[in-house]
Amino acid sequence: MDLYEYQARDLFEQYGVPVLPGIIADTPEEVKAAALQLGGVVVVKAQVKVGGRGKAGGVKVAKTPDEAYEAAQSILGLDIKGHTVKRVMVAGGARIAKEFYFSVLLDRANRSYLSLASVEGGMEIEQLAVEKPEALARVEVDPLTGIDQTKALEIAQAAGFDAELAPKVADVFVKLYNVYKGEDATLVEVNPLVQTESGDIIALDGKVSLDENAAFRHPNHEALEDKSAADPLEAKAKANDLNYVKLDGQVGIIGNGAGLVMSTLDVVAYAGEKHGGVKPANFLDIGGGASATVMAAGLDVILGDQQVKSVFVNVFGGITSCVAVAEGIVKALEILGATATKPLVVRLDGNQVEEGRAILAAANNPLVTLAASMDEGADKAAELANA
Ligand SMILES: Nc1ncnc2c1ncn2[C@@H]1O[C@H](COP(=O)(O)OP(=O)(O)O)[C@@H](O)[C@H]1O
Ligand SMILES: [Mg+2]
Repeated sequence: MDLYEYQARDLFEQYGVPVLPGIIADTPEEVKAAALQLGGVVVVKAQVKVGGRGKAGGVKVAKTPDEAYEAAQSILGLDIKGHTVKRVMVAGGARIAKEFYFSVLLDRANRSYLSLASVEGGMEIEQLAVEKPEALARVEVDPLTGIDQTKALEIAQAAGFDAELAPKVADVFVKLYNVYKGEDATLVEVNPLVQTESGDIIALDGKVSLDENAAFRHPNHEALEDKSAADPLEAKAKANDLNYVKLDGQVGIIGNGAGLVMSTLDVVAYAGEKHGGVKPANFLDIGGGASATVMAAGLDVILGDQQVKSVFVNVFGGITSCVAVAEGIVKALEILGATATKPLVVRLDGNQVEEGRAILAAANNPLVTLAASMDEGADKAAELANA
């Protein structure tokens, strides 16, 4: 889960990372009030989960509360790389002398942590990495020892900080690592980390990604989730513990096991080429125990997608028998009643397949078509979606 800048700022503050005051606001009036409260020069900053806000006109300096009001008018509602700005942060204005870069992240390929740092911050890091790779220090961080003062100094020196600045930024690196470790983050990035004209080191921007697998250790993280921005279908699936990802197509997909669902997406996309270019509408893995309730919740989510024209249920009975799946489908259609109106193509195979098919045949629901194979099912579902 990615956080907004203001949420990252709040976390930084809790861990003692030097930040400027920030107040969130949703209207120009609130921005003006916030600017008045902060006093002096402020910066109005778009809160969207995408970088490059500055270049896109989403970060504006305001010398007076009235200027802040005007800045808010131009920023609120702005589209930044497909993200509409609904909220801004009014931050204290820094007098920047120098801009630096620092991040610590999970390095999956090397099964380790990695810290990146540079005395040339401000510019987007991808660009820096390409144009001046030598200016970007990459220092592996042992997850067992992390970034202590010694390691932080090593990073600062590798990045080219001079002897006077190195201990000062190192102190901030340690605190940022504490955020990374303490919050179970997969990324903590500060771009820019600045030195002000008066010599203070301040994190002016913050990007934090939290590891959702560690959510059970952090009950406070749930409140950081932006439920309004979440896709309503994905939210519903999550509430039912379903592994669901919405896609753009017309054929709803339900399968058991991530691998089977992925290959189902492929065969449906392939079959769709013959049927008006229809595509899979989602990824949905109902997992091992496909009970009637799980099946009903899955169908409910998929049928709630306006774009869905047909559904392909592709289940290979392993530990779960096809009987349980077939009963699940029958019960799910009963539970959903009149709300289920789209055709369902069902392919069952594996454990107790004959019995499973017999249950569906006996139920004789006009919405359900049985398919003998995965390819046949994909073809039928694509054809129905294109009808
Ligand atoms: N509080 C602030 N005071 C002064 N300048 C700021 C402040 N926040 C950001 N800036 C300036 O705006 C630039 C872009 O802001 P930043 O928060 O990094 O957004 P983004 O990375 O999305 O463009 C920064 O590099 C910095 O020069
Ligand atoms: Mg930035």
